[in-house]
Amino acid sequence: MNSDGRSISPFNPQQPVDPDFFVGRDDSIKRVLHRAQESINGNLRIIYLAGKKGIGKTSLAHYCRLCIEKELGAIGFHVFLHGDSGPRTLKDFTYTTVERIIKSRSNEASVMSLIEKIFKKFILEVKVGGVTIKHKELNEFVPNNIPTFYDFLRNLDTELHKKDKSRGVVLILDELDFVASEQYFVDLLKGGSDIAGVDGKKDNILIILCGTIDVFHNMVSKVKRVGDIIDLIEIRRLSEKEVIEFYKRSFSYLSIAITQGGLSVLKQFVDGIPQLMHLIGEETYLNNHQDRAINKREAFIGVRAAAEVWGKKYLKEKIHKLFYNPKYAPILKIFQSNINIELKFSENQILNNLIVKDEDVLFEFLKALEALNVIHKHKDDDDEYWVFNDRLLSLYFQVPHENIY
Ligand SMILES: Nc1ncnc2c1ncn2[C@@H]1O[C@H](COP(=O)(O)OP(=O)(O)OP(=O)(O)O)[C@@H](O)[C@H]1O
Ligand SMILES: [Mg+2]
Repeated sequence: MNSDGRSISPFNPQQPVDPDFFVGRDDSIKRVLHRAQESINGNLRIIYLAGKKGIGKTSLAHYCRLCIEKELGAIGFHVFLHGDSGPRTLKDFTYTTVERIIKSRSNEASVMSLIEKIFKKFILEVKVGGVTIKHKELNEFVPNNIPTFYDFLRNLDTELHKKDKSRGVVLILDELDFVASEQYFVDLLKGGSDIAGVDGKKDNILIILCGTIDVFHNMVSKVKRVGDIIDLIEIRRLSEKEVIEFYKRSFSYLSIAITQGGLSVLKQFVDGIPQLMHLIGEETYLNNHQDRAINKREAFIGVRAAAEVWGKKYLKEKIHKLFYNPKYAPILKIFQSNINIELKFSENQILNNLIVKDEDVLFEFLKALEALNVIHKHKDDDDEYWVFNDRLLSLYFQVPHENIY
């Protein structure tokens, strides 16, 4: 059990991290809080948390919301725009957003009592399992143009803070992949800054967007001004120190000791990627049957198990054809023999070890892996080599494939 009596697992490879196990990101949090303060002073602010899949965008946005609520008194809502199947029109978008505002805090009595009062016309029932919405009524109510959307947020701010002295609404728009390529969405962001401060209205609104850097650039290419009004915060890999802090905190919570040797193996394979940090932590924990101290050996067992889970989940179906094509068998054997291919390798390293040195087949094989997001090419001044996109994939390749299937 943790401090507030919940029983939680520190390892959650599929979900945003529980705040008790959140590590790092101090600079980004400081920046977001600074913008939040500016928004509470009456200026609309928009932040974009940019990073690769699994790098921790949702977790950071969630953690920042909690900090803003605690330190500044604003109230926030996290809206998921469903990646590739997101809302296609402005009206769909505002519906999804308002619906989520009504539903997303239903297990927190203090916020929900405010929400119930504000949106009573559109709520059929509030139960333990969630909120039932009167869809027709809500559909008629939700904003259908840009100014009314911002009016809605302003009114929401006023209504939420009627009885306290604080101000501010935080709106997190997550999983932007699809909506960000829609013109209405980019216009909506730009529109916010166009109408800011008009009629002396205060906009105590902070919008936090979560997506990849490509999605950001795509938005800017549609409307250049969007780049000027959005504060871009890039989320990078965690440092080794942060990864170690995470494992120390997690295993201590589970009452399991971890040695320096164990920590150094785990951190090496995590390579700063938060999603792998959770997966490797979970497998290390689950494969440590007698709850022994995690030393090098236990850590390697965990890493190996994590590589299998990772590979099977994300690669098995995709690389099946490659693994079973006899043409590529000699190349695969090189990866699986101990010629010390680790994270990076050169084409010559493989060719030198092949009996029949067919460059075209090797090229085909490497290109196929590149297309599957397994490896990428790295060029520097005097060298050119291939790099596995993460260490677990590299390890997965080195497990003889008879064992994998
Ligand atoms: N700062 C952190 N401290 C500890 N764990 C973290 C941290 N950030 C992310 N994680 C963990 O990493 C994994 C990925 O995090 P998250 O879902 O937030 O990433 P994401 O960038 O939103 O991913 P996606 O692109 O798939 O939406 C989750 O298991 C989460 O619990
Ligand atoms: Mg996410």
